[in-house]
Amino acid sequence: MDVLITGAGGRIGSQAARLLLAGGHRVRGLDVARGPVVDELETLGARVFVGGLNDRQLLAEACAEVDAVVHTGAVLSSHGRPDDLLIDANIVGTYTLLTAVRDHAPALRRFVNLSSDAVYWTGGDVAPAALPVDEHFPRTAGSVYGATKVAAEQLCWSFLHTYGVPIVIARPTATAAPAELITPGSVFGRRWFTGGALDWWASRPSLAPADEELRRLLRDSGAAPDDLFVAIDAEGRSSVSMTNDARDVAAGICLMLEVPEAVGEAFNLGSTEHSDAELVRYLGERLGRRVHQIVHPGKRPSWYVSSLKARSLLGYRPRHDVFSMVDEALAAAATGTEVSA
Ligand SMILES: NC(=O)c1ccc[n+]([C@@H]2O[C@H](COP(=O)([O-])OP(=O)(O)OC[C@H]3O[C@@H](n4cnc5c(N)ncnc54)[C@H](O)[C@@H]3O)[C@@H](O)[C@H]2O)c1
Repeated sequence: MDVLITGAGGRIGSQAARLLLAGGHRVRGLDVARGPVVDELETLGARVFVGGLNDRQLLAEACAEVDAVVHTGAVLSSHGRPDDLLIDANIVGTYTLLTAVRDHAPALRRFVNLSSDAVYWTGGDVAPAALPVDEHFPRTAGSVYGATKVAAEQLCWSFLHTYGVPIVIARPTATAAPAELITPGSVFGRRWFTGGALDWWASRPSLAPADEELRRLLRDSGAAPDDLFVAIDAEGRSSVSMTNDARDVAAGICLMLEVPEAVGEAFNLGSTEHSDAELVRYLGERLGRRVHQIVHPGKRPSWYVSSLKARSLLGYRPRHDVFSMVDEALAAAATGTEVSA
């Protein structure tokens, strides 16, 4: 198959590109930014278009006669960018891409749209009514990012029903490259490295009240920048969540490209749930760092999804869990090798 991957330079897009290239497919990548990952994909044989999702001319070229599209290009809430950019990339960009495949890819076999479990997340400290969250959960996105993902999904469904574009929706939960788990300043590291968290909060123009309170409590705790922290409630419980490895999500995307029954369906992609306390304790042991428990009544609620539908319909079987990802990242750091994007 000739597959176009938008966001090919990102964590999930680059892994999907590597997997498809290894499987003998022809890969075209598109990304707004050129970097080492894009360079590497080119050396592996991908043809990469550098430009934004709203460049109609570039999209016409990138989509010409393509067999499948994997749409991972997006601005994430974790990027900390202004809302205008999320609307522009995630909603207008998805619409522009859909029109390009409608007009230039007449034999398209699949359009896999990377949505997110943020479509369900009501936001703030509102706990979900039931866990795990399955695909029937109301999509009451409480963040601008989640709202852009709901809008992009709706545009996809409208192109399925109006123009027959063979849509599949993937809704992964939090997804990381292993190295991010042990990097203090990364999107993931700033959830448990004191220095990473304080630096991130200091860089933000404003904070949600719960984060403002956690920042105050963390500062008062006397934790050193290298120390780890975990928020617990008055009963000593931490949140339960999930962390995907980007390689597993990429494998799920490949199944969506292959399995005929996937068309017209939305799939959660999650892994094994873990408590924040378990993970941070493990990191503390492996890194030899102190762990501070911060009693925070407003700690974020537990959140994890059910991937039962992906398991039964697609045969989705994630191969990594958050603890094996930490081990792999540490082993790679020790030998100076990269695990993934
Ligand atoms: N990583 C997660 O935790 C997570 C969880 C759920 C869903 N998702 C979704 O999965 C997809 C991929 O996420 P990721 O983690 O790989 O993100 P990422 O930030 O690593 O990659 C996104 C890529 O898209 C590119 N991009 C951004 N705006 C663009 C534009 N206007 N035109 C072209 N390219 C553009 C970026 O340069 C980047 O390389 C996204 O749609 C995201 O919303 C991610």
